[in-house]
Order: sequence, then structure tokens, then C-alpha cells
Amino acid sequence: MGWPMRRDHRGCGLTGNRIAGRKGGMKRFLLGLLVGIAFPVLGTLGYLGLGMAEVRADIPPGRWEKYLMNTGVHASVRRRAPDVPNPVLPTDDNLIAGGKIYLEACAGCHGRPGKPFGNKGPILYPPIPELPVIGTDLSEAQVFWVAKHGIRRSGMFANEAWASDEKLWTVAAYVKHMNSLPPVVQAAIEKLAATQR
Ligand code: HEC
Repeated sequence: MGWPMRRDHRGCGLTGNRIAGRKGGMKRFLLGLLVGIAFPVLGTLGYLGLGMAEVRADIPPGRWEKYLMNTGVHASVRRRAPDVPNPVLPTDDNLIAGGKIYLEACAGCHGRPGKPFGNKGPILYPPIPELPVIGTDLSEAQVFWVAKHGIRRSGMFANEAWASDEKLWTVAAYVKHMNSLPPVVQAAIEKLAATQR
């Protein structure tokens, strides 16, 4: 039974023809679905393959790119980082030890305490959060996890190659408390920072 026949008999009340009509509708629906899926996929592949995506770090990304990347990164960190308390307690000694690690391994990118980059910071996208200025909403376990594993396609590399878990928990304790340090610790860190200049 071909198309013309089906069309001729449309609406004549024959059950067989109604089923055939429904089948045609289903076919068209599936075809539409396929085209609907193929089009964005091919479009995206073409967009990327033809080099149309902007990759320069010194050009601000669009609102959507920013939103998608930030949301994706933060949701992934929340999902994967362990939900445990820091085994390294924030004692004065531990915070000073963490501050030392921070100054050596993190401050070059994330900024030195008391010395904001202003607009002279490294130009990176995603931008480097200037931790001494803005602090962080992450838990200590999340800071540990980010420091250990790094974040893909960003300057945040995985530190696990050179630093033990203990070291990274220690620096996580410092990062979380860096803007509310006891005066003794604050003074010790400032002294350390001065000797490193
Ligand atoms: C080479 C530069 C660089 C170094 C060195 C570096 N980071 Fe980062 N870090 C980044 C960048 C860039 C991001 C932003 C990544 C993103 O948003 O996707 C980041 C993000 C983070 C975040 C997430 C902050 C937030 O609130 O979203 C934490 C925590 C962090 N780094 C901790 C550290 C620690 C601890 C060290 C030292 C052990 C360190 N980083 C060393 C570049 C660096």
C-alpha cells in the first residue's frame, strides 16, 4: 500500500488505514527527532572543528560559557570531593606549616597575603581566584581535593605528584583560615613572606 492510496482513504473510517496513518506519523516523528538530534551535534562538531570557538585567555568569555563552566566545575567538586573533616587540625603550628606551603606552591598564582595583584595578576581563563582577597566557599576537604587533583583545562594543576596528602590537608587548613588567622600565626606568616621576597 503506497502513499496515494493511504491519502485517498484518509478519514474513511477503516481501522487498517488509521493504523497505517499512525505509523506514518510515527515515522515522521522519529525522522524529526533524528534530525533534531543530528543537527545540534553536527553543528557543535563543525563549530569546534572549524576553530570557531574562542580560546584566548585575554578575551572575556560570554555569559553562557562562564555560567556553564563555573557551574560544571563547582558541581563536580561538590560531587567528588570527600565529605570528611580535615584530619590536620588548625593548630597554630599546622597553620604556619600550611602557610609556608601556600607561599611556596600556591601564592605565585593565587596571590600573597596582604599584596593584592590589582590588575597586574596573571591573565588566565578561567581566572585565578585571588584567595587572600576573596577567600573560598569550599570546605577544607574540597580545597584538599582541588589541590590534589587539579582542575582540567585551567592553570590549576594536580599537586599530587609532589605533595603528600598530609601536606595538602595542611595547606587546605591554611587556605580555609587564611583570612581569620590568630595574631601569632599571622605574624609568623608575614615574617615568612618577607624572607621569601
Ligand atoms: C599555575 C597557577 C596555579 C597554582 C600554582 C595553584 N593554583 Fe589553584 N587555581 C588556579 C586556577 C586557574 C584556578 C581556577 C580554576 C577554575 O575555576 O576552573 C584555581 C582554583 C583553585 C581553587 C578553587 C577555588 C574556588 O573557590 O573555586 C582552590 C581551592 C585552589 N586553586 C587551591 C590551590 C592550592 C592550595 C594551591 C597550592 C598547593 C594552588 N591552588 C596552586 C591556578 C593555580
